[in-house]
Amino acid sequence: MYTLVIMTWLTFVIIPNVNGFGYSKKEQHLWPQKYKLCTGKLQSPIAISTSKAIPLPLPALEMIGYHDFLPMPLTLVNNGQTIKLIVNKNVTYGRLPYIFGAILKQNQQYEMEQLHFHWGTKNNKGSEHVLNGIRYPMEMHIVHRNMAYSNFSHALQYEDGVVVIAVFFQLQDEQNELLQSLVSKLSDVQWAHLKLSVNISITLASLMPLNTDIYYIYKGSLTTPPCSEAITWVIFATPVPISFRQMSMFRTLSNGEEILGDNFRRLQDIGQRKIYVRRLYPWLSVKQDNSRWNFSNLSWFWS
Ligand SMILES: *[C@@H]1O[C@H](CO)[C@@H](O)[C@H](O)[C@H]1NC(C)=O
Ligand SMILES: *[C@@H]1O[C@H](CO)[C@@H](O)[C@H](O)[C@H]1NC(C)=O
Ligand SMILES: *[C@@H]1O[C@H](CO)[C@@H](O)[C@H](O)[C@H]1NC(C)=O
Ligand SMILES: *[C@@H]1O[C@H](CO)[C@@H](O)[C@H](O)[C@H]1NC(C)=O
Ligand SMILES: [Zn+2]
Repeated sequence: MYTLVIMTWLTFVIIPNVNGFGYSKKEQHLWPQKYKLCTGKLQSPIAISTSKAIPLPLPALEMIGYHDFLPMPLTLVNNGQTIKLIVNKNVTYGRLPYIFGAILKQNQQYEMEQLHFHWGTKNNKGSEHVLNGIRYPMEMHIVHRNMAYSNFSHALQYEDGVVVIAVFFQLQDEQNELLQSLVSKLSDVQWAHLKLSVNISITLASLMPLNTDIYYIYKGSLTTPPCSEAITWVIFATPVPISFRQMSMFRTLSNGEEILGDNFRRLQDIGQRKIYVRRLYPWLSVKQDNSRWNFSNLSWFWS
């Protein structure tokens, strides 16, 4: 059932809870009953340890349009499981941000679809991936669709269908001004199942770490049902600062019953998967890099 509430300056749409799933330990155990893929061998999130990752002078991840304002209006949703910022596909000017490079297949570009967050109700938890034993208070996912596939649900059926950029957040006292345009809109979607058209002047770069040189990359899955194993994860090592006050704004949101938070999936087995980490060796010039290294046939798995 849809209820439309029109206000003088905002349009809310109450969205139904279609793919209901919960995050409590009990509820996560139930995911596979309805979504078989959640028991697969390439599931996410995982714990990443630098000492077990394979260091290589990999190419940079190229992020195009990350410094441009996202086309307005954007859609901001509280679906009861996360807060999501969705870009409008029908933009008539320019193009949406996209990525390529790293060790993604050559000639393949991945266009931004949406971004969303996973966070804790307490400061010592929240992120989905764990890096060197650290569970950060929040993790952002910027979801990109392989443009070879016409839409997101189609892309989820291919192992090279989707790239998700993961960014950790780290608490500090000072406010991160770059986050304010988004944080200040959170109260507009405080209630669960609200979908709102918003004009936020925001660039993806403003949500990214200052240093994007070092990333981890591995093959995994959606961390929410249907758990499709179509995701190449690119996880930046450097976190983005966020103040305690800004973090607390996320914890004023409601999931319909209680405070929205602790919306992270439990850790999954790494299994036979390799995790690569980009390392910069200052003594290697760019030219040497190209001629000496060929990353096009790196294997993602231990055989
Ligand atoms: C997604 O793309 C596939 C393949 O092109 C098509 O069959 C399907 O109808 C599309 N789905 C939606 C929701 O547009
Ligand atoms: C956003 O801006 C566009 C034009 O720039 C305007 O038509 C639209 O009404 C605005 N939407 C909201 C929700 O303010
Ligand atoms: C890298 O190796 C692949 C196959 O192993 C080959 O097709 C490609 O041309 C190589 N690229 C370069 C730049 O040498
Ligand atoms: C990549 O291809 C080259 C030559 O085709 C081969 O020598 C090398 O062992 C391959 N590397 C991997 C990781 O398969
Ligand atoms: Zn996510």
